[in-house]
Amino acid sequence: MLEKINALKEEITSATASDLKGVEELRIKYLSKKGAISLLMADFRSVPAEQKREVGQKLNELKTLATEKIASLKESFASDGDKEMEEFDLTRTATSLNPGTRHPLSIVKNEMLRIFEGMGFTIAEGPEIEDDWHVFGSLNFPPDHPARDMQDTFFIARNPADILLRTHTSSVQTRVMEKTQPPIRIVCPGRVYRNEAISARAHCFFHQVEGLYIDKNVSFADLRQVLLGFARQMFGPETKIRLRPSYFPFTEPSAEMDISCDICGGKGCAFCKGTGWVEILGCGMVDPNVLEACGIDSKVYSGYAFGMGIERITNLKYKVKDLRMFSENDIRFLREFESAR
Ligand code: DAH
Repeated sequence: MLEKINALKEEITSATASDLKGVEELRIKYLSKKGAISLLMADFRSVPAEQKREVGQKLNELKTLATEKIASLKESFASDGDKEMEEFDLTRTATSLNPGTRHPLSIVKNEMLRIFEGMGFTIAEGPEIEDDWHVFGSLNFPPDHPARDMQDTFFIARNPADILLRTHTSSVQTRVMEKTQPPIRIVCPGRVYRNEAISARAHCFFHQVEGLYIDKNVSFADLRQVLLGFARQMFGPETKIRLRPSYFPFTEPSAEMDISCDICGGKGCAFCKGTGWVEILGCGMVDPNVLEACGIDSKVYSGYAFGMGIERITNLKYKVKDLRMFSENDIRFLREFESAR
């Protein structure tokens, strides 16, 4: 037995192979189930008890030698690719990708939607290319009403039905009311377009969030409470609101809402022009004519609506003074919002 082991030891030590196939043949010859070493292991049973210790040790050494020999032969034929794979450490943490940042308007829009969703509103969206009916007609703008001049519109086609870029997201109100009976409780985010010269304070496109709630017995007090809740979640629990009478064709009564100036805390500063208040939105009780135009019985249902600019809210929240910053994609500006989410 010992002789056989020694002979195999020599054989294995001097074994060579010319390629990976040869190495595999050697592995089969010595290490496979029916290989030389396994056969010796099988004979081990017949070794006399007093020799078992020595023979067992030698056999184990032989097996280790063969295993190492095969491994080293294999490695000498391994391709560079295989070697790279061996060095490829799957437990290492990945190098971080730079995923960019969320746009400030998206950050603020998401936060606005989150607040309204928390108050039971769902999100509705409508098309940016609209017709006259959804943007003006259904919202109580008579054909020659001067309110139509309040918004300079981009027209795409003037006939037969005027096709235009929506000037406000109030058009989504109509789209939803035409298809759904109350209760309706929606917020509608989206881009709107107006034919304005671009400056720090005006742009030819910007973004709004529209709100609409229609049900039985909806009151102005409900509107006020929802807007107060929004203002406090958005600008802090100390925020105060004030509603001033205003005019919109689609609401009656109508109001504009101011919040206490975030910068001076209401004392009066350059930002709020000394008044202590800044305007953030328009709102009111939905005009019965609008409900009827959209197929909702105004004797049974009432509701409120509000609309605000996302740029305006972002300006107040992050003190961005120039509207053009939002569309210029200056990477230094965008990076400032890296930590906001
Ligand atoms: N559509 C108005 C605008 O673009 C904003 C607005 C005011 C929306 C009052 C409303 C509202 O729903 O009730 O200036």
